Amino acid sequence: MSKASIESAMDKAYTNNKDVKEGKNADYIKELAAVDPNIFGIALVTTDGQVYTKGDISSRVSIQSISKVFTLARIIEELGPKAIMDKIGVDATGLRFNSIVAVEEHKGKEINPLVNPGAIAAVSLISGTDSATKWRHIREIHDEFAGERLEVNMPVYISEAGDNLRNQAIAHLLLAYGRMYFDPVQSTDVYTKQCALNVNAKDLAVMAATLANGGKNPVTKKVVVSPSTTASTLAVMATAGLYDDSGQWLYIVGCPGKSGVGGGLIAVCPGKFGIAAIAPPLDDAGNSVKAQKAIADVVNALRANPY
Ligand code: DON
Repeated sequence: MSKASIESAMDKAYTNNKDVKEGKNADYIKELAAVDPNIFGIALVTTDGQVYTKGDISSRVSIQSISKVFTLARIIEELGPKAIMDKIGVDATGLRFNSIVAVEEHKGKEINPLVNPGAIAAVSLISGTDSATKWRHIREIHDEFAGERLEVNMPVYISEAGDNLRNQAIAHLLLAYGRMYFDPVQSTDVYTKQCALNVNAKDLAVMAATLANGGKNPVTKKVVVSPSTTASTLAVMATAGLYDDSGQWLYIVGCPGKSGVGGGLIAVCPGKFGIAAIAPPLDDAGNSVKAQKAIADVVNALRANPY
């Protein structure tokens, strides 16, 4: 992959998709409805640390569900891959990211850490006997993946924290089935704060590139997690990163991805690069319409789809 081929792929993906009008900002978190729907930025970071950007890289949005990936990586690193399989699950639910039916159907089993129930359970498993320590560890892992200090978007955090009865219900239901490992209200609160970390497309691309590079941040050169933790994390992303559309994503792009309702999307092409795009309007599954198209265009133009 030459510099010129990457720049040309990014230019084309930007130009071809910048006028796409489909999709709608998330509005079940009130603050997200007010985010500028025209934000559109793409960033790609190679495993040797070269950074390419196109479009809006200065706007930051809340990371939302993309954060689930990094908390997952941290608990795999702390507890080992088997504990995650046993205590949360690593199966696709085939249902929406905040489905209560998905929990109820198998009594809290056969879910995964990338849907809301599994992600709140993941927070409950992070090391620390109080919520402040758990939050510190979660923030630390996100900062290390990004290679910089990420800030919490307070209006988004306050907006969601004041209105997340559904996630609290999910956490209590998991507790009832013995699948929540810390206080459900505090776990939901820390989870909500993690979702409100603010990122731009470049931050997300560095985070994705760290996974593409076996857990070593290619920009800061810090080893954040081990190669085996990275492999387990990518397997869950391939299975469930775009929820009930994960199969379609893998079919078209081939590189494990993860979306967030803030409009961000990452994809990890192992050994090659991490790529991210931000564009707030979402499809029915909760995935950014423009970001999916842009990333698919770049990955396929660079022949980085392994299948
Ligand atoms: O818990 C929620 O519903 C949000 N904080 C995150 C959901 C999300 O990003 C789903 N992703 N596409």
